[in-house]
Amino acid sequence: MKSYKIAVLPGDGTGPEVVREGVKVLDAAAKAYNFKLEYQTFDFGGDRYIRTGEVLPNSAADELRKFDAIFLGAIGHPDVKPGILEKGILLRLRFELDQYINLRPVKLYPGVETPLKDKGPEHIDYVVVRENTGDVYTGIGGVTMKGTPSEVAIQSMVYNRFQVERCLRYAFEYTRKRNKKKTLALCGKTNVLTYVYDLWERAFHEIGEKDYPDIKREYYHVDATCMWMVKNPEWFDVIVTGNMFGDIITDLGAITQGGMGIAAGGNLNPEGVSMFEPIGGSAPKYTNKNVINPLAAICSGAMMLDHLGETTAAQAIEKSVMNVTANKLKSLAAGKMGYSTTEVGDLVANGL
Ligand code: IPM
Ligand code: MN
Repeated sequence: MKSYKIAVLPGDGTGPEVVREGVKVLDAAAKAYNFKLEYQTFDFGGDRYIRTGEVLPNSAADELRKFDAIFLGAIGHPDVKPGILEKGILLRLRFELDQYINLRPVKLYPGVETPLKDKGPEHIDYVVVRENTGDVYTGIGGVTMKGTPSEVAIQSMVYNRFQVERCLRYAFEYTRKRNKKKTLALCGKTNVLTYVYDLWERAFHEIGEKDYPDIKREYYHVDATCMWMVKNPEWFDVIVTGNMFGDIITDLGAITQGGMGIAAGGNLNPEGVSMFEPIGGSAPKYTNKNVINPLAAICSGAMMLDHLGETTAAQAIEKSVMNVTANKLKSLAAGKMGYSTTEVGDLVANGL
């Protein structure tokens, strides 16, 4: 029997609650589809930082590299200044493990309410490939004369051809494998960011023309992308973009698919170890109330299985989730589902 070693990082706030349901569903899938999952839990997060003063042990990345995948809940603590845990844990792991793709499907499931008028599951089904190691996230920059009227702050948008190219190649391959509209849209800002997105655009067309003639190429500025994601989401198949724009447009995408209760993602290193997480935050005000929606974590778990090669099990989880959204849940919002966090986990697990 195939066996996978999973590092579990429940993290902060409602992270542990949603991870518990995710693991419940993963175990049910393993049982139904004949594979084994072995877990090891790590306590990285705000509580550990407050207790020990250490954000992340230096050995963390090396330790995590020994696993087949990482399953993460949420990072972010109300008693810790914003940025410390996000940069010190989440971004550090993405960088050190070189998880250069952040894959974020935007898919409206049946029975889920979208704020987009007259749009249904047949209109909202695309995937954002967000580059995950470069851009303003590299932290290159600095500040001088801080606190004075002359304060200068710089944070640079940084990309090299290698980063851009490997991300684009992943996106082209993904579009081909997805085999839907066979259309890859580059989301950029070539009218203002005339260095960075010029690099992206040239690489996009060079690579596409040479190696992916079967994939249709489109280009949208990021502001226009936002507009069309609301007005005509059915135009999109796969969108590829840099780290910052990808962060922003995937929150917009998430709300069109029913919000943070359902939006899942994977930080992928196709040649290394990948980390799967709900894209929402730690929602501290709902902690330990058994009201948070675990579906985003459950769907991240399904993405993890798909990545590990357990495609049938991944599809079964997605099907069970769709059945639950279509026939059970009143809403995807915390406290309004008509079921508790644990009950939603049970519903999905029992549906396998
Ligand atoms: C996300 C989050 C993170 C990001 C934050 C928490 C650092 O918003 O995963 O989208 O900006 O990437
Ligand atoms: Mn974000």
